[in-house]
Amino acid sequence: MSVRAIDYEVFKRKLKDTIGLDLNHYKQQQMQRRINQWLDRVGAANYGEYIKILQSDPVERGKFTEYLTINTSQFYRDVVVFKEIEKRILPELVQQHRRLKVWSAGCSTGPEIYTVAMLLEELTPGRRHFLLGTDFDTGALAKAEEAVYTENLLSNLPAKYKNKYFTQEGRMWRLSDSIKGLVRFQRQNLLEDPFGKGFHLILCRNVFIYFTPETQAFLTRKFSESLIPGGIFIVGSAENLLDPESAQLQRVSYCIYQRY
Ligand SMILES: C[S@@+](CC[C@H](N)C(=O)[O-])C[C@H]1O[C@@H](n2cnc3c(N)ncnc32)[C@H](O)[C@@H]1O
Repeated sequence: MSVRAIDYEVFKRKLKDTIGLDLNHYKQQQMQRRINQWLDRVGAANYGEYIKILQSDPVERGKFTEYLTINTSQFYRDVVVFKEIEKRILPELVQQHRRLKVWSAGCSTGPEIYTVAMLLEELTPGRRHFLLGTDFDTGALAKAEEAVYTENLLSNLPAKYKNKYFTQEGRMWRLSDSIKGLVRFQRQNLLEDPFGKGFHLILCRNVFIYFTPETQAFLTRKFSESLIPGGIFIVGSAENLLDPESAQLQRVSYCIYQRY
């Protein structure tokens, strides 16, 4: 088969070797449509031509990875869910456990885990919890470490937190070092890399939506195994788990599940 004329199946195999992401776990139609749009945008004639560009150009690899992985995020994204996290989930957890282990899987540029860090700082000032953000995309993680955001990412965040934990720098908002210092970030491919254990709270929000139902079920089991009994697992508002009981998870409200 000529390199120029490879089909989508071959492209997926070569892409896994090139950027490390196995697209077989992602919903095919949606992914292929996005990739085709990108090829049009960059003017690549076909998959074969584009894979050659990716293989030889690290900058293009970074841009394509960022495009593919969709990094949209916000502080206090989904107000109803974060109110529940603020008013019920975290207060109950810190009553039961002195030091929480919290993981934002697919954390993108960090708003989700930083929101949890702020809420915990309000609840238990000065207490050190273990707060982890992981993502496949190293570009997103670099932005998370920098923690400087455009205003629209803060539009849902209650004003008291915005005023207390951010300083404005022109059109950007810089997160305070006191909150930044509470979170650690790490690159992790959810489909291949090992999961940690003993978490009290795991958020994997607006990530499942891109995966096939089989992969969602597989990851649900793995996340459940990473929780302590009684631990909480939160997905995105549009991501109801199909069969939570088979992973020892019980839905408590909205998109919030508890391991039993
Ligand atoms: C739409 S963002 C969600 C960000 C955040 N959780 C939120 O809800 O605001 C989806 C994130 O999932 C990450 N992601 C996609 N596939 C992944 C994988 N296989 N392993 C780890 N992260 C992945 C992407 O890089 C992206 O940052």
